[in-house]
Amino acid sequence: MVLRESESGGASQSTTVVVVGAGPAGLTVANLLRTCGVDCVVLERGSREYVAQRQRAGIVESRAVRMFESWGLADLVLGGAPHDGILEFRVDGETHLVDDTDGSEGPGARLCPQQLLVANLTAAHLAEGGDIRYEVADVSLHDLTGDRPTVRYRSADGTPHTITCDFVAGCDGDHGVTRAAVPEGVLSAHGFDHGVGWLTVLADAPPPAHPLLAVSPQGFAAHFPRGPRRSRYYLQCPPDDRPEAWPDHRVWDALRTRLADPALTAGPITDRETFRLRSLVHDPMQYGRLFLVGDAAHIVSPMGGKGMNLALYDADLFARAVRDHVRDQDDTALRSYSRRCLRRVWNDQEFSHWLTRTVHDAGDDTHRGPFLRNLARARLHRLFTSPTAAQAFAEQMTGLDPAPNPPAATSG
Ligand code: APR
Repeated sequence: MVLRESESGGASQSTTVVVVGAGPAGLTVANLLRTCGVDCVVLERGSREYVAQRQRAGIVESRAVRMFESWGLADLVLGGAPHDGILEFRVDGETHLVDDTDGSEGPGARLCPQQLLVANLTAAHLAEGGDIRYEVADVSLHDLTGDRPTVRYRSADGTPHTITCDFVAGCDGDHGVTRAAVPEGVLSAHGFDHGVGWLTVLADAPPPAHPLLAVSPQGFAAHFPRGPRRSRYYLQCPPDDRPEAWPDHRVWDALRTRLADPALTAGPITDRETFRLRSLVHDPMQYGRLFLVGDAAHIVSPMGGKGMNLALYDADLFARAVRDHVRDQDDTALRSYSRRCLRRVWNDQEFSHWLTRTVHDAGDDTHRGPFLRNLARARLHRLFTSPTAAQAFAEQMTGLDPAPNPPAATSG
């Protein structure tokens, strides 16, 4: 890290990678780069407390667990209980347990809430001398198509700063500034609106025995663990619904009805919000020396828990590509970053779309009509009765690449 006084009176520095955003994507990039000896500076708009309290995702899929293992970071950054590999579908009150593991001896998914992963990634990076700058403002990117882009920002005290770097990792989510720095017409945006709203509720109430997806005539509901004494619930609602329309008694009545569990234990509700289920992909995910990672590049509907896991996948590919550049002067992986990320992005978009449509169409008749309802019910029946359908589902849930087909037996 080189520090010089810049002409604007602020400090000007240089580093290898500037990471914009300190959420799951940015902090994973920072930890992986540090692990392979590449220096970086993380710029975060919010405070450390703000970032630490953001409670959204709740599962680190098997593939991501093994990714952290491969970097030697799993014990340092992963918390939460191991997922027992069972997902419950409850259709009109009838329970169907589905195995969502790959059946191997390797480590499985972890019920690691996002805020725990982010807290551990932050602590690990700072403990090793990592440079995370909170409450920055006015981040702007310059000369992205040159060899040494610059990032300008103001620190919390208003001082202007300039950092020259080799690469910029855009980890600032769907409403950040890095994607906006790409000139008009370079990126294509492919979006889909599911026409469905969700009320999501966080409560200090007992978690379910297994992550639970419920289909009912009154609409979809879900119940996920978020720690030993906390739960995340989802309730299908009109796309333009508001949290104010859901007082506590209405939330618990709807959950008891749709989960077919009249004795469901309630608890203090600590967070309540509504949102539309939408999906969005920006292509390509790179421009010059800027590489988009996580939500800055794609938004996926929360079914299947792929949002944070896609961010972890992108971060892994980006860090390995930068390591190849720095260590081996090999830019092959940098050049193919977007193509390789988008292959998994579209796979996970397809799986999330399939699961979103299935659990919503199968329930509420008024939602999309009886024909699509019966198609969705047929899909669920196949999942519950066909071993190959169940295996295909588990492969998607783990995020693991399919085991290579065993070589065909050769005759003679
Ligand atoms: N300057 C600096 N930081 C910024 C800026 C900016 N202009 N704009 C946004 N940020 C920060 C936000 O404050 C946030 O901390 O970037 C971070 C983006 O974090 P996320 O929105 O969580 O995105 P990402 O890290 O890609 O994680 C994606 O994790 O939140 C879960 O499942 C969810 O799919 C989502 C996944």
